[in-house]
Amino acid sequence: MRMKNQKPLYFFANWKMYLDYAESVALAQNIASHASAFDGDVISAVFPNALSFTAVREALKNTPVGVGAQNIYWIGKGGCTGEVSADMYAGIGATYALVGHSERRHMFNETNHEVRQKFEAAVAAGLTPVLCVGETGKERDEGKTNEVLETQLRAVFSDLVWPADTKVIVAYEPVWAIDRGGEVTPCDPAKAEEACRLIRGFINALLPGSSSVLLYGGSARPNNVASYVSRADIDGVLVGAASTKIESWLQLIEAGRK
Ligand code: PGA
Repeated sequence: MRMKNQKPLYFFANWKMYLDYAESVALAQNIASHASAFDGDVISAVFPNALSFTAVREALKNTPVGVGAQNIYWIGKGGCTGEVSADMYAGIGATYALVGHSERRHMFNETNHEVRQKFEAAVAAGLTPVLCVGETGKERDEGKTNEVLETQLRAVFSDLVWPADTKVIVAYEPVWAIDRGGEVTPCDPAKAEEACRLIRGFINALLPGSSSVLLYGGSARPNNVASYVSRADIDGVLVGAASTKIESWLQLIEAGRK
């Protein structure tokens, strides 16, 4: 059981492409009307789609809830049809940016090199990147989890100039554990913690002196969240499906902070 007055717990809501504009704004307003649930020992943020970003930011402006980008591009401005830059998000009040989410890596073929460019652009723009890493089911079955995590982390953190006193946020999201249309196979909490510990070790080696925040993501739900966040090496959760309805989001946070 997590002790009171320990480190804050992180609850990050990746809305993906689940909600349209009206639904995103309605959920943000609903969150704003329950703002006290997100206060105190909790650090929370929502990641709406690009279209809804400004309206969601506006709805949450007087609350402790941050707003982040789901995806960014590394060039500030230019002929990059369909993209939105890190600078542009920073200019309208984004705090965070997801970088390297597995759906970007696997559905949109984002490479480790591109993930690095996005990570650096986020830092340069003043956003806090939330780097997502994780192995596929095939890679896990072949015993390659550690190798995949190391490759993904080295690609981003090797020789990185990192501002002192800045937290590194990394989400361990095993690809096979992410909800696919209701197909839910959450990672065993002990295994998730083992991976988070390994990731923290890599970060300490690659960015000496940094402090890291490790999130777990993949079918986190109100009924399993405590089994993750009660573990010493897991500082919070990155949640997709269960964060897109006010009831389950509030239940999940309540269950997690108990
Ligand atoms: P999920 O998604 O909670 O729906 O499994 C997590 C994520 O992809 O960030």
